[in-house]
Amino acid sequence: MVRAAVLTAVNAPLVIEEIDLPRPGPGQVRIRLAAAGVCHSDLSLSNGTLRQPVPAVLGHEGAGTVTAVGDDVTSVSPGDPVVLNWAPSCGRCHFCGLDEPWLCVNAMAAAGAPYARTADGRELYPGLSSAVFAEETVVPAAAVLPLPDGVPLTDAALLGCAVLTGYGAIHHAAKVRPGESVAVFGVGGVGLAVIQAARIAGAGAVVAVDISSEKEQLARKAGATDFLVSTPDTAKQIRALTGRHGADVAVECVGRAETIRAAWDSTRRGGRTTVVGIGGKEQQVSFSALELFHFGRTLSGCVYGNCDPAQDLPVLAEHVRAGRLDLGGMVTDRITLEGIPAAFDAMLAGRGGRTLVVF
Ligand code: APR
Ligand code: ZN
Ligand code: ZN
Repeated sequence: MVRAAVLTAVNAPLVIEEIDLPRPGPGQVRIRLAAAGVCHSDLSLSNGTLRQPVPAVLGHEGAGTVTAVGDDVTSVSPGDPVVLNWAPSCGRCHFCGLDEPWLCVNAMAAAGAPYARTADGRELYPGLSSAVFAEETVVPAAAVLPLPDGVPLTDAALLGCAVLTGYGAIHHAAKVRPGESVAVFGVGGVGLAVIQAARIAGAGAVVAVDISSEKEQLARKAGATDFLVSTPDTAKQIRALTGRHGADVAVECVGRAETIRAAWDSTRRGGRTTVVGIGGKEQQVSFSALELFHFGRTLSGCVYGNCDPAQDLPVLAEHVRAGRLDLGGMVTDRITLEGIPAAFDAMLAGRGGRTLVVF
């Protein structure tokens, strides 16, 4: 039995319970978590914005140590430090064949099947295949990435979602070039990773925008050159900061119609608007035909930073070792499993950076 934060029903508060975790079956790996980040997608899965079968153990940004492997697992061994990949690709589907593993049609396969049981015998689902809001978890071997040397294991949790996503948004999706200006909407864990990645890419102005003024310090520490509290005039202010043209690249890290539209309005003619935030179906964004023509901008979505985690993780680790990427600085709260509901509340109130559950 291991302790876990269990979502018993959509919108119900998480309950700390002992759960019955099986030994890893063929092709599976069991991990003792060192840390798990609290991501806005966990909140969205818990409140019904994103679909989640219940009861479930959420949490998809995790790092820990392998404790056991199932038959035929050769990629890792007990004792290995690892980071979890919440969208393991199959290597066989249409999109894997195109070398776009972030779109793999089988990436969510494990999330739809029970992986453990509650103490009273009910089947439990793993949030985004990972279920890291628990002392231990069991995941497919493909979801386990060996942690390169020189990265502290607890901080490494952040690599699994916020940092792969944020780095990928800048490096793979928007393809930011040195000197380009970047506007970043939403300074949560993901936005902070985007800001750091923009700085690493050699961006010129990096303008961070949030509704919460208390995000300014975090944004500047990550590398933002300017900070704006979002108002209806934000796009105009960003144009003023970028030679009146607008940002070469705007990255939306909130998942709301108004911020997607504001990011688009802040982008220069011919620039790129990249949407990283995940919103619900009710978030409808509209554009006129004339403005689509006139501004000639590119609007694109982005899944898991359009990353191949196995290839990108070593690159990120090198940035950490070289002191270019600060993982610990993104963390503003270190909590236990009991603190997750309060971390969700803080997120809704626009407080703090990343909250890390430390085991
Ligand atoms: N304008 C600007 N900023 C906003 C607005 C708004 N209208 N509404 C919310 N924000 C800010 C919040 O104040 C917060 O700082 O957006 C930030 C979101 O951060 P988190 O809640 O910490 O979310 P994070 O985990 O970073 O995820 C961001 O990416 O992966 C997706 O599902 C995730 O959609 C979410 C997004
Ligand atoms: Zn996430
Ligand atoms: Zn695939």
